[in-house]
Amino acid sequence: MFRSILTSRLQAAFAAAGIALPEGLDAAVALAADTRFGDYQSNAPMILAKQLKTNPRALATQVVEKLDVSDLCEKVAIDGPGFLNFRISPVALAAKLLAIVSESSVGVDAVADPRTIVVDFSAPNIAKPMHVGHIRSTFIGDSLARVARFVGHKVITDNHVGDWGTQFGMIIHGWKTQLNREALKADPIHELVRVYKAVNAATKTTRENENGNEVPLEPEAVAKAQELRETCKGELVRLQSGDAENLGIWKECVRLTLEQLERVYSTLDIKFDHYLGESFFNDALAPLVDDMLAKGIASISQGAAVVMSDGSVKPEQDPFLTQKDGEWVPAPCIIRKGDGGFGYATTDLATIDYRVNEWQADEIWYVVGVPQQLHFRQVFAAAQRRGVNTKMIHIAFGSILGPDGKMFKTRSGETVGLLEVIDEAMERARAAVNEKEQGFSDAEKDEIAQIIGGGSVKYAELSQNRLTDYKFSWDKMLSLQGNTAPYLINAYVRTRSIFRKLGDAANLTSDCNLTEPAEIALAMKLAQFAEAVHDVLADHRPNTLANYLYELANTYHSFYEACHVLNSEGVVRNTRLLLCEGTSRVLKQGLGLLGIKTTERM
Ligand code: ARG
Repeated sequence: MFRSILTSRLQAAFAAAGIALPEGLDAAVALAADTRFGDYQSNAPMILAKQLKTNPRALATQVVEKLDVSDLCEKVAIDGPGFLNFRISPVALAAKLLAIVSESSVGVDAVADPRTIVVDFSAPNIAKPMHVGHIRSTFIGDSLARVARFVGHKVITDNHVGDWGTQFGMIIHGWKTQLNREALKADPIHELVRVYKAVNAATKTTRENENGNEVPLEPEAVAKAQELRETCKGELVRLQSGDAENLGIWKECVRLTLEQLERVYSTLDIKFDHYLGESFFNDALAPLVDDMLAKGIASISQGAAVVMSDGSVKPEQDPFLTQKDGEWVPAPCIIRKGDGGFGYATTDLATIDYRVNEWQADEIWYVVGVPQQLHFRQVFAAAQRRGVNTKMIHIAFGSILGPDGKMFKTRSGETVGLLEVIDEAMERARAAVNEKEQGFSDAEKDEIAQIIGGGSVKYAELSQNRLTDYKFSWDKMLSLQGNTAPYLINAYVRTRSIFRKLGDAANLTSDCNLTEPAEIALAMKLAQFAEAVHDVLADHRPNTLANYLYELANTYHSFYEACHVLNSEGVVRNTRLLLCEGTSRVLKQGLGLLGIKTTERM
């Protein structure tokens, strides 16, 4: 990568000039914001000169005298008050272009220190409605895992499915009393959710009145609801104590749900190395809590086992404290409830042990929505107190809103989950493909629709900053114009059509001579692919890569308008074909890292 090579050369130049960089200041070289003066720039001499109270230009001159970048740069200029501007030479760009065209890494360097990273994503709950958060988690997590793997990390993906919990009391009762077998066969998740919702609604002791306030039901209805709650609790207790019938129902719910989910995952080309759901850790929970009590990390409070503040950090940073009326009060993390039951946090602590001990995880990434921030802060802090020093990161994201800016609903007015969105995306993409009539067979149309449909939804997600709420718009995401998957896939298709036209006549050689500004601009953009890929992991943001690809497609279109490819000859033609091939490879690989497939024609 030009950026990192230039950075290390600049660092060496500072050292050679006998100038020590103070702690916290590194000789970073970044992409130039304004490319009139250079492709990359550094303001390190300026910052340092300010600290040392010396003349920045003089300091910059001293450093540049020791700087050797002649293999990469045409010139290094000291501009303005002391900026260093680097102009990459066409020869260096040509070498990079050839690497992009010929190497399986597409010119992206591997990391120097590969780590074992567990990526925890998707994780829907069995027989509970899936929410849009699961869509975001699924796409962001899958993309981050792909990028990390591509740059050489050892990645383990784990779908920590919510397959255990109090909801099963209601589901089992519903299964026994009101299951519709036909509906279960047709769409198991939908039927299980229906049953769960029906039972859950019947356990309510209040209702909403005309003014939107919760008011109690009639005493008779309250008694009935309470009785139902007891019944459901009984089913749950029987499940937890190993009752064969209830265990059988539970297993069937899990099996049917996973089967249906796996179909969707496979349509979306998403794979998990493991499906270690919550239930997998059941046996580890009791010993874990005992151990934490024995070590004094947890204590008993009002009958429950809890983790509390140990006063080791400032209250503002302490996840076990919260502010109430201006005072800091305890916000304990319950790891065993008063009734002996374990919760979400306990399971996560046991899961961390497993990932550290069995998989030797150096890092664990949790791709889960913002609302679970406190949960993860508490779990990470509790794990650290138990001596876990694996790096744990909560990769949070905001919500998806409907086109009207309110809660996102389907056409039929239901809240949306992954399944509904994917179904509708495929349907809409198929309708768009049908309009085209380009001599595609039905099977080809299906395949293109699947690529465009899945790709559009993924790209709509991944081109957004994960922390901002974004509006979901079918028309926008399926449009051939703008920052969308169809636009990028179409750019790829256009590069392929050139080579299809040429057939064997394409005959690419390594003769490359970049001269035209549009050629150089495109080569420069292609060279920055490596940086865009690595930047994704700096902050766990796939949108940096998505936006790069969009800019690349635009740069490619400008190049194609400015430069004849097929009508040119000799080395000019070869150079331009190399640029087309480079664009093609970067688009395919780049979209692939977002989990988006390409098609040769559309
Ligand atoms: N099942 C959870 C939910 O739907 C997400 C689980 C995330 N992963 C974890 N290790 N807690 O909210």
